[in-house]
Amino acid sequence: MSTQHCFRTSGLSGERITMKISQGIAVVLALLVAAPAVWAAEAAKEVVCFESREGGASDVLQREIAPGLLNVRCSPTTGGVLWWGDPYDGTVPMGEMPIEADYSHAEAVVKPRSAKLTLLPICGVACHNGTYPPPPKNKDPRKLTMHMDLVPDSMNLQHGRGAIWCLDCHSAKTRNKFIGHNNELYDFDQPQKLCGKCHGQIYRDWREGIHGKRIGEWATTGKKRWFVCTECHNPHDIQQGKRNSGFVQLKPEPAPRLPKGVYNADHERHHLQKGAAHGEAKPASGGH
Ligand code: HEC
Ligand code: HEC
Ligand code: HEC
Repeated sequence: MSTQHCFRTSGLSGERITMKISQGIAVVLALLVAAPAVWAAEAAKEVVCFESREGGASDVLQREIAPGLLNVRCSPTTGGVLWWGDPYDGTVPMGEMPIEADYSHAEAVVKPRSAKLTLLPICGVACHNGTYPPPPKNKDPRKLTMHMDLVPDSMNLQHGRGAIWCLDCHSAKTRNKFIGHNNELYDFDQPQKLCGKCHGQIYRDWREGIHGKRIGEWATTGKKRWFVCTECHNPHDIQQGKRNSGFVQLKPEPAPRLPKGVYNADHERHHLQKGAAHGEAKPASGGH
């Protein structure tokens, strides 16, 4: 999977056109004749953006979902999705979620993770059918013969810093499912149930909308797409190497352009200072 996102990957680049123009009128004329063909090719080129996790894990192909309406608009600087033409495009119902939360009182949809996982369709059938190769007898780390590309620190797994390993998440017998504390099986499209078995506090925050992300209708009871944990976190590389903290930092978007007639952002700083002053002026309440 390519990591070159949101940049058109073939055809005449701007510089090349400029260079050719400087080479002479003949080339300009030739280009003028060829221009409609070039534009047609431009329009047909694929733009791939990412929604939340870079590197192929949350890619979305830009396309027209109605005349003149794109499914997503993407940042030309970072390749990140900035706007959805249809927040529910490509989603399915969230599935059964027994713990009561906002999703119990509204229409909750998710983008299925299984659509992104290339090994999932075969892993529990062709490679580990439950009897052959015999499922490991314990969950202890052992030298793997495969998947080192997926889990580069497999012999010293930094997710959990040595406390957990593959079979604390993946079912030993049913490889296309995750495993819960009581050996219940969870679907790959509901990773929140797996993550929630160890990250109870964050799971609760996610259910309450404090952690993670939802898009769609504003009203509490409106239809929403919920982003699941693995759309943002890579379970196999959770600490992000040297950064050693839970999330790959994404390139920030540049500051938005100022509205017409506004020449600097001082008014915002002014607001901020006033806010801070109010905060300081508050009497210290209680001693607890
Ligand atoms: C903390 C839980 C956790 C641990 C530990 C873990 N995994 Fe995973 N694994 C996941 C999740 C969640 C996914 C699905 C990721 C997604 O949706 O992007 C996954 C996906 C996979 C896949 C399918 C990838 C694909 O592209 O189809 C393989 C293979 C895999 N893991 C192997 C391993 C191996 C081998 C280990 C141990 C060295 C391991 N995992 C450890 C949670 C875990
Ligand atoms: C079997 C238990 C277990 C499961 C399941 C599990 N985790 Fe963890 N995770 C841990 C532990 C333990 C740590 C704390 C490591 C440490 O001590 O720093 C951790 C740490 C993390 C961190 C923080 C890393 C940091 O350094 O800030 C993130 C993010 C994270 N997990 C995400 C996930 C996601 C997403 C899932 C589901 C795909 C998941 N975890 C499933 C046990 C688990
Ligand atoms: C929309 C993206 C997104 C989703 C969805 C998401 N997270 Fe996070 N998560 C983040 C970000 C951003 C951080 C902050 C990381 C940092 O500070 O480096 C974070 C931090 C964490 C941490 C570390 C917390 C800490 O205090 O250091 C854990 C654990 C975690 N998430 C687990 C989860 C679990 C479990 C889910 C699903 C129930 C989930 N996340 C869903 C973006 C997300």
